[in-house]
Amino acid sequence: MIEYRNVFQVSKTFDLTAKTALVTGAAGMLGIEHATALLESGAAVVLADVDQAGLARARLSLSKNADAARVITRIMDVSSPESIRVVARDLTTAGIRVDILVNNAAIDPKVTGDRGLIETSRLENFPLDQWDLQLAVGLTGAFLCSQAFGSSMAQDGHGGVILNIASDLSVLSPDQRLYRKEGVADDVQPVKPVTYSVIKAGLVGLTRYLATYWADRGIRANALSPGGVYNGQSEEFVRRVTSLIPLGRMAGRDEYRAAVQFLCSDASSYLNGQNIVMDGGRSTW
Ligand SMILES: NC(=O)c1ccc[n+]([C@@H]2O[C@H](COP(=O)([O-])OP(=O)(O)OC[C@H]3O[C@@H](n4cnc5c(N)ncnc54)[C@H](O)[C@@H]3O)[C@@H](O)[C@H]2O)c1
Repeated sequence: MIEYRNVFQVSKTFDLTAKTALVTGAAGMLGIEHATALLESGAAVVLADVDQAGLARARLSLSKNADAARVITRIMDVSSPESIRVVARDLTTAGIRVDILVNNAAIDPKVTGDRGLIETSRLENFPLDQWDLQLAVGLTGAFLCSQAFGSSMAQDGHGGVILNIASDLSVLSPDQRLYRKEGVADDVQPVKPVTYSVIKAGLVGLTRYLATYWADRGIRANALSPGGVYNGQSEEFVRRVTSLIPLGRMAGRDEYRAAVQFLCSDASSYLNGQNIVMDGGRSTW
């Protein structure tokens, strides 16, 4: 039987008061934005990252606008089952239930002018150790965190939400023309590495798997695929990439906050297993 909820005030469905969200890679640029959004909706946040100094900075900055008791930091390496276990145990001991998991951590090697990096970024030379490392964080990390925190959500019957942060490159192949450098031979032109596409497409598969696996326990899983955020990239790069985006600009770092609030709350209570592509329309062209 379908149980109809009578929603008097839609805005109330965004409320995350008394919920706790764990954000991985929370010391990074978008991790802090996700945490800001979740705090604004009333949740407590566990900022998890390997970057201890970055975590301290994030905590300080987030505590300016939110009750400091709702900002918790934990050093956690998402590629290490032991590190995740320690944090999960520690939170349980402290009486903290993770209701929302945001798998956001990634290693995103920049496509820079460094000749050595360019040559090893190319598929022909891509080092296996880099493949292993980047997949361990971006994809295996999301699996391990979902396994640990999702299992706990499933066990106690109170439901939960898993949000995987993918990318517009989960649905598009990188346009390698964006990264081209004048005067550089074709076989050493910089490229977006193969790992990025594989990780982000893999996260969408993981999302669909999780969405059905624990659906009967009230756990929903979705992916958010952001387009590129403007972060001081070169004028030439910005010109090239914006020519591919119908809205004619890159994203502001705060433009995904509302989507995070929607996807992590009851406002999206009937959304499950989807990949929300927020890319200014790039994938529409
Ligand atoms: N910035 C963009 O334009 C953009 C666009 C689309 C998707 N994304 C995705 O959004 C997410 C966040 O991107 P960002 O730009 O904030 O990146 P970022 O590099 O600023 O942050 C990534 C964070 O992950 C952390 N991290 C790395 N290895 C880790 C590990 N083993 N365990 C735990 N944490 C670890 C880093 O310390 C860092 O704080 C990534 O998944 C990225 O692929 C970013």
